[in-house]
Amino acid sequence: MMQYNNTHELLNVPADAPRSIADVAKRHLLMNFTPAGKYREDELPIYVRGEHCSVFDENGKRYVDGLAGLFCVQLGYTHGAEVGDAVREQLATLAFQTTWSVAHPSAALLAEKLASLAPGDLNRVFFTSGGGESNEAAIKLARQYQQTLGHHARRKFIARRVAYHGTSFGAMSLNGITAVRAMFEPLMSGVRHTYNTKRYRRPADETEAQFTEFLLADMEAQIIQEGPDTIAAVILEPLQNAGGSLTPPEGYYQGVRELCDKHGILLIADEVITGFGRLGRWFGSAHYDFQPDIITFAKGIASAYVPLGGVIASDHVIETILDGPLGMYNHALTYGGHPVACAAALKNLEIMEREGVVENVATLSPYFAQKLSEMADKYANIVGDVRGDGFHRSFELVTNHEAKRWDSEKVSAADFVGMYLNPALFEVGLICRVAIDAENNPLVQLSPPLVMTRDDIDELTALLDRAFTLAVERSGL
Ligand SMILES: Cc1ncc(COP(=O)(O)O)c(C=O)c1O
Repeated sequence: MMQYNNTHELLNVPADAPRSIADVAKRHLLMNFTPAGKYREDELPIYVRGEHCSVFDENGKRYVDGLAGLFCVQLGYTHGAEVGDAVREQLATLAFQTTWSVAHPSAALLAEKLASLAPGDLNRVFFTSGGGESNEAAIKLARQYQQTLGHHARRKFIARRVAYHGTSFGAMSLNGITAVRAMFEPLMSGVRHTYNTKRYRRPADETEAQFTEFLLADMEAQIIQEGPDTIAAVILEPLQNAGGSLTPPEGYYQGVRELCDKHGILLIADEVITGFGRLGRWFGSAHYDFQPDIITFAKGIASAYVPLGGVIASDHVIETILDGPLGMYNHALTYGGHPVACAAALKNLEIMEREGVVENVATLSPYFAQKLSEMADKYANIVGDVRGDGFHRSFELVTNHEAKRWDSEKVSAADFVGMYLNPALFEVGLICRVAIDAENNPLVQLSPPLVMTRDDIDELTALLDRAFTLAVERSGL
């Protein structure tokens, strides 16, 4: 195995050669889900500044951020200074306190604000520092709730295929993405995966109502197969991100709610992405008109300017636990309800309300859909499906439309993405997520900042159009 002692050796340059931030990052920074080997050769983008819906690299080149960081910078990059003022004030007043047997204003006020925004009787908030931690907290909440009721066998969870819920052990166990899980087995036991709501490959003559029926029948069959009184909770994202912006068919969530009620199972909505306006309502569950028992959130609550997440639980769940023998939720984090993060989130929500950010998504969602559908028509030879909702939309690329899969003899799906589409996006200056999905088709995901205007959408789609043209021409498709 090769061993490298310093940046210059790794990069194979003389000891006195100038170093860049990219060089330093390549040597010392262990990046998230990033194949480091690729960056021995390739350029590593270094973003140094953000403005509205764009970021700028160290050479001053602008990139339109069609991914909102990672589905999270709701406000784009303009409001950092204003959120920073709130952070500075909090640091100057009370830099840190816990929410262990004491409380402080910013956590209390943020919890109250969330209770007012969340649907129904979701009134009790526990804070974490991110999405995976929030799902861990929800797992423990659901299990403790069932234990408190004396349902000692109810420890299992039903999640959906290809869904992503985080990388810590509990959250990772909920994932329906084999590649994320397999290396770390055995995980938390008792997680089963049911169908997700991807309709693209369903039989052409199946109606939406039949699809809903099929999905609910599969879920109920699984519940019965496992034994209903062994299931603690069902967890799902209102719009599933992994797999490419999977929207529910009509009646699906209402049916899931009924199944949960019928079998004494809690319903957890993972709103780490769909929370805070992405679908044009504060929460995706409200957008699709269903009532979860627990919502998990992160990302957009503070426009990701600071790390913050949490769970919002129904009065019923929390009162059951607080009335139980332990008299408390049996979970804790030093940073749960960190005053600085909560102050930033309060300011973020204030700005979102002031600027009508959630309404902006609801207003522009049809226009965004129309622009992407025009792109799908223009590139009909490679676009198999375009789907999504609000400001979360995806293209699934195929070359064989009858079989609905990528099987070009000219270029493989991986080469099209790695050698042509990603470099073209980089060249034109557009950030979006391009992945090969579980069925080996390229997915192009767009999830821009929620402050995008009509003009911004025009620019984003023009850049995507340009990148598609370059990739198709250069790959010879
Ligand atoms: C739906 C969903 N849940 C949970 C997570 C995990 O969040 P984090 O990376 O903050 O732990 C993610 C991350 O993208 C997500 O998309």
